[in-house]
Amino acid sequence: MQTSIDAAARVLARANMAVALTGAGISVESGIPPFRGKGGLWERFDPMTYAHIDAFRRHPEKVWTVLLKVLSDTLGKARPNAAHRGLAEMERRGCLQAVITQNVDGLHQDAGSREVIEFHGSMASHHCMDCHQAAPSATIDLADLPPRCDCGGVLRPDIVFFGEAIPTAALQRSAQFARMCDAILVVGTSATVEPAATLPRIAKQHGASVIEVNPEPTYLTTLSDFSLMGAAGAIVSRLVTALDAHL
Ligand code: APR
Repeated sequence: MQTSIDAAARVLARANMAVALTGAGISVESGIPPFRGKGGLWERFDPMTYAHIDAFRRHPEKVWTVLLKVLSDTLGKARPNAAHRGLAEMERRGCLQAVITQNVDGLHQDAGSREVIEFHGSMASHHCMDCHQAAPSATIDLADLPPRCDCGGVLRPDIVFFGEAIPTAALQRSAQFARMCDAILVVGTSATVEPAATLPRIAKQHGASVIEVNPEPTYLTTLSDFSLMGAAGAIVSRLVTALDAHL
């Protein structure tokens, strides 16, 4: 494993442009459950019933009560782990230009990463379904669900529900990074949800090296140049240490 980590670190150090694509797995060690696999949210809740925009429109109180309140409480307690801090350190050393994250927990920014593309939006802010007035999370009261705007409209988080489009700017910038990068570090994603799962394929087609960090094989593993099997915290920390020899 160490030889693979050293070789992957050399690729990252030599890359003119390296980006990371992260998924729920990078935040598992911060206490946030993944969506799929052991302990996954979708093992307990049906995503089409609780995470689809049509379901939210029909039953906002149910979606808030069952999913969004749990998510808000969990995210409120979560802190960045060694993997988030490691990616921020790579950016500081100039060997990671951006993090494209599918996560809505804001932990990359909390760890110090500056170029973060939130592909599925963020729980950090909300807006009204009627008047579209923005509402920062800290200002909304979750005692009564669903939370409502002063106009009476239902408040929703600025996340991308199933059935919604990825924000145009996030989609375009992520695709551009995927086309232009020499290396993409894929950490903690099952690579099952499009269009995020296509980004490593685009990078590969444009000549980039794909480095995967995951304790399990995924749909990307056969595509990857380096498959670093293990938990994100330990593997990313070892990558950062191995970079010392190449920078
Ligand atoms: N370190 C690294 N990877 C881990 C760890 C860990 N400690 N623990 C679990 N994993 C891996 C799992 O093996 C799995 O491959 O993280 C991945 C989590 O996969 P998902 O739960 O499917 O999360 P993700 O890929 O981010 O899902 C994509 O699906 O439901 C939507 O919007 C949601 O953004 C999410 C999208």
